[in-house]
Amino acid sequence: MCVVGAGLAGLLTALELIERGYSVVVLERDRPLAGESGKTTAHLTAVLDTRYFELARMHGEAAVPRIIDSHRRAITHLERVANLHDIDCDFERVSAFLAAETEEQARQLEREHAVSHAAGLGCQLLRNAPLPSGAGVALHVPDQAKFDPAKFAQGVLRRLQALGCVVVSPVLVEKVEPGDLCRVTTNGGDVVEARNVVVASNSPINDTFKMHTKQTAYRTYALSFEIPGVQWHDLYWDMEDPYHYVRTTADGLLIVGGEDHEVGQEDDPQQRWTRLEDWTRERIPVAGNVAHRWSGQVLEPVDGLAYIGQNPGDSQVYIATGFSGNGMTYSAITALVLADRIAGLENPWAEIFEPSRKPKSVSALASYVSGQANVAAQYLDWLRPGDAASTETLPAGEGMILRRGLKKLAVYRDPAGALHELSATCPHLGGVVSWNRAEKTWDCPCHGSRFDCYGKVLNGPAASNLSSAASAEAREERAPKQRRAQ
Ligand SMILES: Cc1cc2nc3c(=O)[nH]c(=O)nc-3n(C[C@H](O)[C@H](O)[C@H](O)COP(=O)(O)OP(=O)(O)OC[C@H]3O[C@@H](n4cnc5c(N)ncnc54)[C@H](O)[C@@H]3O)c2cc1C
Ligand code: FES
Repeated sequence: MCVVGAGLAGLLTALELIERGYSVVVLERDRPLAGESGKTTAHLTAVLDTRYFELARMHGEAAVPRIIDSHRRAITHLERVANLHDIDCDFERVSAFLAAETEEQARQLEREHAVSHAAGLGCQLLRNAPLPSGAGVALHVPDQAKFDPAKFAQGVLRRLQALGCVVVSPVLVEKVEPGDLCRVTTNGGDVVEARNVVVASNSPINDTFKMHTKQTAYRTYALSFEIPGVQWHDLYWDMEDPYHYVRTTADGLLIVGGEDHEVGQEDDPQQRWTRLEDWTRERIPVAGNVAHRWSGQVLEPVDGLAYIGQNPGDSQVYIATGFSGNGMTYSAITALVLADRIAGLENPWAEIFEPSRKPKSVSALASYVSGQANVAAQYLDWLRPGDAASTETLPAGEGMILRRGLKKLAVYRDPAGALHELSATCPHLGGVVSWNRAEKTWDCPCHGSRFDCYGKVLNGPAASNLSSAASAEAREERAPKQRRAQ
């Protein structure tokens, strides 16, 4: 078996496969946990980003008990792995509170309570729930959990290595070819052959188009604050759009996150941290100094459920993507669903997460169509001028898009003043990257690929780096000659 990606989904799947007797190699582009699993805030919960009354509309009422069951069993799976392998990761069972701040949100909570309670979530609607901002209306869901994700994942990694799993990193996988014996090719030209391949690269790098029309990439932001004495242990979310969430850690930090926006479509991402801090100080005045701030990426599926199963049309190749902000439980679901599918066993959740499913409701279809219109609009960037006419005024440590004839260049001036010219063309499907001033990265607004300031790929679906401007020009010059020779 070959697993691409050593995030939590890849590592847990590798562990489940090894425990069932398969031999597994994991290929990782950077280092294990360098992706979103290294940035998560690790609420382990069946309170999903999409409300259950919306999921009932999109997938039918009969699907809701199965969705709830999958996430609850996923929390138990994470707990079992921690206990069985003696992983000291501060795992703690806590309550979760989804809080309403307006009357409209309170009405939505009533609907949410009715649907999720009937489907077995075991929740209560409270008028005076104990919230960090004071008592308020909230849906209380007991028996959820939190842990330290880094300690947990490091424990899984140690266990995998003890069981003989080979984790190869850094190695960039560029191609996955299905077949009786699948072929996984790296950028160094090495080939791994395996009966089955699990692409757990967060955004599937093996799929050029289909899956990326069914989900949208968002940047998401988090802050941790010092807090005098840990006052709450539970998990909290509000119902704003974009939403906010709160938890505390075992070492006495308050974590607040949210303020999501579509990748490459925000002029001033720095503002998102400012808003998050303002939101916190307004509601939780005891929050002390900001200890850390970070950001990451989440993939929102058009119909609110992750895609876990066979890559459409490719037998033996499996994917796991579209996890929203629920990727901890979805990583455990991935391990259980894909290990069953590979073993040819029935799995009670396989059908609801099937990647080839089509949007079934008008609202999912509308979300799909508006997502595609948004992507199409991003290609109009090719018609727009650059950010400025020349790089003369570009400060050190900043980047800009420069138009040179028909070409667009992504130009970065390093702290020493040297200019680095890259092609601004995203290697995935040709979108124009834009400069992210807060994170010093090049972000593609089409499907969420990101690159560091020197063009190294950070987030898929792109599976290769931005080309240098010189090599892109040389390629373009060669192309007409090659066409003449054919
Ligand atoms: C700030 C933040 C807060 C979050 N909070 C929560 C939360 O509270 N609860 C929750 O359940 N979820 C949360 N999530 C979501 C969750 O963290 C993610 O969904 C989950 O970690 C994704 O796991 P993954 O294994 O799919 O992806 P990743 O952890 O990103 O792993 C994918 C791996 O694949 C590697 N890779 C990519 N391309 C290639 C390639 N071409 N070749 C080889 N390797 C490759 C990457 O380097 C990476 O290591 C949060 C996410 C963020 C960013
Ligand atoms: S991510 Fe698809 S074109 Fe850039």
